[in-house]
Amino acid sequence: MHTAAFQKLGINAVYLPFLITEEQLPQLLNAFSITGVQGFNITLPFKEKIVPFLDLLSNEAEMLQSVNTVVRTDSGWKGYSTDGSGFVRSLSAAKIDILSKKILIVGAGGAARSVAVSLAIAGASDFVIYNRTESKAEALSGLLQRVSPEISVRVAPLEDCAADIVINTTSVGMSDGKCPVPDEIIFGSKQIVDIIYNPAVTTLLKKAADKSIPNINGLDMLLYQGIEAFELWTGTQAPLEIMRNSLIGSVYSDTSKDRD
Ligand code: ATR
Repeated sequence: MHTAAFQKLGINAVYLPFLITEEQLPQLLNAFSITGVQGFNITLPFKEKIVPFLDLLSNEAEMLQSVNTVVRTDSGWKGYSTDGSGFVRSLSAAKIDILSKKILIVGAGGAARSVAVSLAIAGASDFVIYNRTESKAEALSGLLQRVSPEISVRVAPLEDCAADIVINTTSVGMSDGKCPVPDEIIFGSKQIVDIIYNPAVTTLLKKAADKSIPNINGLDMLLYQGIEAFELWTGTQAPLEIMRNSLIGSVYSDTSKDRD
């Protein structure tokens, strides 16, 4: 989607994948410095491991100690975390109002942390967190309290976590066909969000759709984290539709081949 956007805007740049090991991280930054690379994304399992090698961090990246986007600046490499802000932008594009809503975060891993912190920064103030491993849910609750002491946040078992907006940040449903929350929680909510984008319709989303409960998958989160990165690298407004079409083509092309 980035190369498609560069081409559309006539920017002389490409976006390329590099497969690296943890030991190569510092060398990679040196190589990028001398070859004029303007910025890059970094993904699992290096989002946290890259932090010590960067010169600056955005506020969100500082809070999360996690980075997915790096930008060359006059003062060195600056790390950002655009997963959460991209997620918030995807909700706003879908006209999902987060203010004065009780939000259930299912999961407490890296994705949950990005999503919850950005929601809190955007003004959400009433959270319930459920996670299989309760200690991690408690740690996320503490992080949200540090973002803003006014936030109401409760760690709850699955049977006691009813909310207006349910957000699945776990991998449950990605390849196992399972649903991360019981039916009562789904049917009692007003909006379901699954950050999984492949399959496009998880069991969670299907159950919501069958009861006409508004629901979205994670494709737009992926799109908007990329749009935010593009805008950080180029200082230019990203061409949304070009990027969305390119993304849909690459994310779902393998699946359609399988179907054929
Ligand atoms: P990510 O960066 O994608 O968030 P992660 O940090 O490994 O990945 O977090 C994965 C999340 O999915 C965690 O909340 C994990 O729960 P635990 O903290 O208990 O491990 C959750 N998860 C993964 N598989 C799960 C399963 N089968 N049932 C319930 N939760 C699961």
